[in-house]
Amino acid sequence: MLAAALAGGMMDRTVLAARPRTDKIHHGERELRRLSLRVLSGSSLALAVQENPRTVADGVYTDAQAMRGAAVYDGECSGCHRGDLGGATGPPLREQRFARDFAGKDLKTLFTKIATTMPRNAPASLGDNVYLDIVAHVLKENGFPAGPQELAADALEGIRVLPGKPKPPPPVGDFSYVEVVGCLTAGPQRTWMLTRASEPVAVPAASTRPSTEAATATPLGTQTFHLLDAMAYAPDGHRGHKMYVRGLLIKLPGDQRMTISSFEMVAPTCPE
Ligand code: HEC
Repeated sequence: MLAAALAGGMMDRTVLAARPRTDKIHHGERELRRLSLRVLSGSSLALAVQENPRTVADGVYTDAQAMRGAAVYDGECSGCHRGDLGGATGPPLREQRFARDFAGKDLKTLFTKIATTMPRNAPASLGDNVYLDIVAHVLKENGFPAGPQELAADALEGIRVLPGKPKPPPPVGDFSYVEVVGCLTAGPQRTWMLTRASEPVAVPAASTRPSTEAATATPLGTQTFHLLDAMAYAPDGHRGHKMYVRGLLIKLPGDQRMTISSFEMVAPTCPE
């Protein structure tokens, strides 16, 4: 569950430069479809269905399938395309690049590209079912929802690819990886707390820290967090300072705790 939350958060929030244009195309298509549907009205249902092909937004794979795909992807693909599909020696498999190369085509195009040429160092080595699982994972990472039925080879041609959406950041829950700012305050029995802290914001584990300016600009709030293992960070020297903390949030009834993976001073005071 944690791994899923972390992976889910890894999408950056780049604005999709390619999107407005593509959206317009889709809008135009929709208009066309509506027109042809009107012309067709009264004629056979089969024709109408052809005018309205399924898309990857229609829940064309299952969660279990995408999870199987994720496991294979991590072992076979992430070395070149990165765990979050952001691209490394291989191109990104999401956002502008994904939209440019695959949107508007049928899902078979994407499947065939993967199944016949990837992994680049061992093309066509994984078997069709495994490649279908990987396609499910790629769709999920592009923000398309799961559905009740597994993606099958004979369905690929009838499913249209759309430009991906950035996945929303995972909701903050127990064991989310979060960042906050707050005032470092000594608690009972040599414990340390962040008081008047901001609302926790979920962050991907692998993302870079915000700039000091961003942390400075984040206002204090009304939250309290008990810091675990704060002693390792020489907290005495930061008593009463405004601090930036990133770590795992552990919610208990009436108590919020945070582990610390990043601990930085934002300001040497903690003004009201
Ligand atoms: C050894 C590095 C490497 C590995 C491993 C690898 N790829 Fe690639 N991949 C590339 C390179 C380089 C390209 C660009 C050249 C090309 O299209 O063949 C690419 C292209 C792609 C494309 C086309 C992207 C586009 O926008 O044109 C897809 C999709 C893809 N890879 C998926 C995968 C999947 C899925 C796996 C795992 C099964 C995988 N790759 C494993 C290096 C790799």
